[in-house]
Amino acid sequence: MSLQELMLIGRVGQQADLASERGVSCTGDLPEASDPSLIQRAKVARAALGSRAMVLGHHYQRDEVIAFADITGDSFKLAQAAADNSSAEFIFFCGVHFMAESADILTTSQQKVCLPDLAAGCSMADMATATQVNDCWKVFERLGIASRTIPVTYMNSSAAIKAFTGKNGGTVCTSSNAPRAMNWALTQGEKILFLPDQHLGRNTAVLELGLSLTDCVLWNPWKPNGGLSDDQILGAKIILWRGHCSVHGRFSIENVSAHREKNPDVNILVHPECTHEVVTSADFVGSTEFIIKTIEAAAPASKWAIGTELNLVSRLAKAHPDKEIAFLDKTVCYCSTMNRIDLPHLVWAMESLVDGRLVNQIQVETQVAKYAKVALERMLALP
Ligand code: 13P
Ligand code: SF4
Repeated sequence: MSLQELMLIGRVGQQADLASERGVSCTGDLPEASDPSLIQRAKVARAALGSRAMVLGHHYQRDEVIAFADITGDSFKLAQAAADNSSAEFIFFCGVHFMAESADILTTSQQKVCLPDLAAGCSMADMATATQVNDCWKVFERLGIASRTIPVTYMNSSAAIKAFTGKNGGTVCTSSNAPRAMNWALTQGEKILFLPDQHLGRNTAVLELGLSLTDCVLWNPWKPNGGLSDDQILGAKIILWRGHCSVHGRFSIENVSAHREKNPDVNILVHPECTHEVVTSADFVGSTEFIIKTIEAAAPASKWAIGTELNLVSRLAKAHPDKEIAFLDKTVCYCSTMNRIDLPHLVWAMESLVDGRLVNQIQVETQVAKYAKVALERMLALP
């Protein structure tokens, strides 16, 4: 077996470990997806919980779940919503694990957060473990650059990585405030360690901060010294973590060319988690909230090919029949972990609470939460 194959097995194993650490999804009393009374059951449970509960829904959630969300948003807007609401005792977070962790950190100790399916993780967040990040930081300490390097951690990361960031003078960012976060970081230090999404880091550094590709190096957590020479690390302004989103990583330059050939006046609109070549060939780039606002403001009959998660693109196409909206890729691709939250899981979680049992609570350990909150609050306070 080749070294590459062994490393791949290691990675799959590590991700399975992370999933099992999150625990089992539900205990078997899940309603059937085909249950004709499911919508009615959801309405009854939601009404019974009233203002004691709040349902937050990320834009990538299924329509059947979004229908019950009190607030929909991108990861930034949902973090703000959690921080701003201190009255709802229970928050059903319809999104992925790292978002629910952030909600738990940002809410009061009286509020409790539930993730209706604990298997709703994020493969990108799993690409940076606390051990790997600590090992990387030790190299920076050996080279004498740790005190001059500011960690900027994408929201799509575990609470432990956010805590590392808070402890080391850094901030969290989302796709809607990455330029602000990186500009701020460069006022605090000379270098940035950007993790875990290399594409968001690179796209922001080059397209928003005016840095060049040669200012960036890629830290591979699976290789000694990140696969870099000491001189490469010392010479870099931005050290990008080698992580990516498996959903946005699928969009290719060929997808862009195919749409442009078919429709010369098409507008290509993509999320900054796409690769640098896709982002540089697009007409518009931005977070999920930006994508929605761009389509809302678009002229009737305008043509769009959108490179982000399919639930959102389909919903936009349905909501704007006067515009021509297509998915950028030829093949259908949902975020499989976002899709884990479906109406049966939401009904199960809400009905359990009506019966007095909170299931799938997300509770971040106190010390981790303390430092992660520092990094999250720095983000919320960014100018
Ligand atoms: P937003 O920050 O745009 O909500 O994106 C979150 C995400 O998971 C994108 O893949
Ligand atoms: Fe994670 Fe990508 Fe899914 Fe977003 S779309 S939750 S980054 S796997």
